[in-house]
Amino acid sequence: MQFLANKVCVVTGAARGIGRQIALTLAEQGGSVVINYNASRDAADALGDELQQKGVQSLVVQANVSQMGDAKKLIDAAVEKFSKLDVLVNNAGITRDGLLAIMKPEDWQAVIDTNLSSVFYTTKFASKAMLRNKFGRIINISSVVGLMGNAGQANYAASKAGIIGFTKSVAREFAQRNITANVICPGFIDTDMTRQLNEAQVNAAQAQIPMKRFGSPLDVSNLVAYLASDLAGYVTGQTIAVDGGMSMA
Ligand code: NAI
Repeated sequence: MQFLANKVCVVTGAARGIGRQIALTLAEQGGSVVINYNASRDAADALGDELQQKGVQSLVVQANVSQMGDAKKLIDAAVEKFSKLDVLVNNAGITRDGLLAIMKPEDWQAVIDTNLSSVFYTTKFASKAMLRNKFGRIINISSVVGLMGNAGQANYAASKAGIIGFTKSVAREFAQRNITANVICPGFIDTDMTRQLNEAQVNAAQAQIPMKRFGSPLDVSNLVAYLASDLAGYVTGQTIAVDGGMSMA
């Protein structure tokens, strides 16, 4: 049984890493998938081809979601192609790490624009289509760093904590309109983002994780699929960590 048959799903930053796996998992569950990328055109096209070969309807859209006009272009393209929008997964994100004393304002701004303002833009435009559709699932990818903070990531932590407050507000605004909004906080997941860590950083990270290992993109995408499905119709405004126990209180 497929849990997302006939659902139209937009995934931002879907060309690689967690976003790519989210697109694949939603497609496996019967969803049609709009693959957004910013710069990784070849990888996005390859994913589009892979889905097409599996008989999944898909659309590849270039958009820098940190720009409001591009975010609108993405949502408009999805609605134009599929005539509706059911699921929005805000996954695109960057890091520009540095201790506060040396953090440049442009590194602060780039992270806030890409990780947080993008979520405002896409959700604002997608929610209009979801209201028309009388159904919606908004799933925002934050981080355990948004819950716990992290030295050297004040910009990233602020953007990811901002997503949590934003999502709870949106969940309240749309609670009576059959639109849910939830946050996933991944811990350390094996992707390009964490492959930048050196051996000492990896060892220090694993020491903090009760399960003593990094997670996989599939660990995250399985929760996305659940939250996107009808099974999660009474779940809204929640923040759920997928982190091997790292952030438990
Ligand atoms: P990644 O760096 O492999 O992929 C991020 C994707 O976002 C890339 O495809 C990139 O091109 C895209 N992107 C960046 N800026 C964009 C923009 N302006 N417009 C459109 N797309 C843009 O990273 P990964 O690991 O797959 O991360 C995905 C999400 O999960 C991010 O939001 C990240 O902060 C979050 N996360 C990742 C963790 C990890 O351990 N890998 C842990 C916690 C959260």
